Amino acid sequence: MALIFCSRTDDPKEWRAEFAEVMPELDFRVWPDIGRPEEIEFALVWDPMANRLLDFPNLRLIASLGAGVDHLLAATTLPDGVPMTRFVDDNLTQGMREWVLLYSLYCLRRVPEYLARQREQDWHRLDVPFAYQRRVGMMGLGILGEASASALRHIGFPVIGWSRGKKDLPEIECFTGAGELDDFLALSDILVCLLPLTPETEGIIDSELLTKLPRGACLINGARGSLVVEADLIQALESGHLSHAVLDVTRKEPLPADDPLWQARNITITPHVASVTNAKSGARLIAKNIRRIQAGETPHHLVDPKAGY
Ligand code: NAP
Ligand code: GLV
Repeated sequence: MALIFCSRTDDPKEWRAEFAEVMPELDFRVWPDIGRPEEIEFALVWDPMANRLLDFPNLRLIASLGAGVDHLLAATTLPDGVPMTRFVDDNLTQGMREWVLLYSLYCLRRVPEYLARQREQDWHRLDVPFAYQRRVGMMGLGILGEASASALRHIGFPVIGWSRGKKDLPEIECFTGAGELDDFLALSDILVCLLPLTPETEGIIDSELLTKLPRGACLINGARGSLVVEADLIQALESGHLSHAVLDVTRKEPLPADDPLWQARNITITPHVASVTNAKSGARLIAKNIRRIQAGETPHHLVDPKAGY
């Protein structure tokens, strides 16, 4: 029973050690040392290998090392009928909850302006609202969006959310679908994006959407860079319509040295670290799904390829 591991960013040594503990019978192989392709039954992947999955004729599971699966669904060829799973893990959720809280408070408490003033040795107070005076709009109310929304609510922000299907969440006013998007945007002082990247959401954060936010709003994108039209975002920051943007993700990663985002005004960039997969809990999750498949059961957290997430 062999698994092929392929990732640009996750450390195979760590994952190998965790699988050795939790599933010692697993033959853990690391791309490109695949051995005999017909022996590979499970693929654990982040990014570069998606187009090679057809090489494994006996594949029984494609497990994404990320919650987002756009990297897999973008592949030109995928084997038919092999189940694909997303990465859904309490540690991943905790990481995102912390990142969203951190940067929502960072925007609320005007930290970027204080940092700029510190560089000028400027010791003055700014007017700072309380959380209950600024509404957060959460785009995407899935595993990460809902957890982050509820943490924001917990520390006093009024929170509204937007999703594809209708939701009913405690203390969070929920908006649904394209028909309710404008009403949702008009109320979002801080817009947090935790949508998956799909054909429907690609480029959704463009100038038209941004102008529907209240003047002075902030954008926090912890999802995927391609949800945002970056030139439109820079323009909205330049014009002062948006007061700040926090991007953990960008269309091109790593962000090239000459990308205009680096020089844009009022922007904070983190290098796709909002929440990273944890090998300890992750290996246990994947092992559980492998066992389910061996028992003839459906694995948890299946991707719906038609919906794209
Ligand atoms: P999820 O559970 O699949 O939730 C996705 C949410 O988006 C759902 O509420 C879904 O609506 C909504 N949605 C999808 N398409 C939509 C559309 N066209 N219009 C309106 N709402 C739509 O995903 P998740 O686990 O929360 O993860 C969200 C994303 O975060 C991932 O796809 C990934 O790209 C990103 N991420 C980033 C990092 C990082 O470090 N930066 C880490 C982890 C994940 P329904 O509820 O109606 O289905
Ligand atoms: C990270 O970006 C993920 O999708 O888990």
